[in-house]
Amino acid sequence: MSEPVRTREPVLVCQVGDLPTGAGAVVADVDGRRVTIARDSAGDLHAFDDTCTHQNVSLAEGEIEGDRIECWLHGSQFDMRTGEPKQLPATRPVAVHTVIVERGDVFVALSD
Ligand code: FES
Repeated sequence: MSEPVRTREPVLVCQVGDLPTGAGAVVADVDGRRVTIARDSAGDLHAFDDTCTHQNVSLAEGEIEGDRIECWLHGSQFDMRTGEPKQLPATRPVAVHTVIVERGDVFVALSD
């Protein structure tokens, strides 16, 4: 059985209004991959892999502080712009993806 072909076409994931400033995130399936879409405290939108690189839990359930999201389980913090871990115990980054906003619709295009 062959692997499904991954496209990098933008996928509609939510509406801008679904993402209050610094107050929450949504999870979407983008070409079979779980992606978190979140708005930071400055109002910018970010998209990144939903699974914490420390253990297998959803980052979308974490808390947003500035441009970071904190994993709810052990407190790792990730820079939502770059995916880099900024607080242990996670040491590996999460992949970040491209966010496109058109007329209130939010699209995500996978970066890899
Ligand atoms: S599972 Fe996220 S920090 Fe441990």
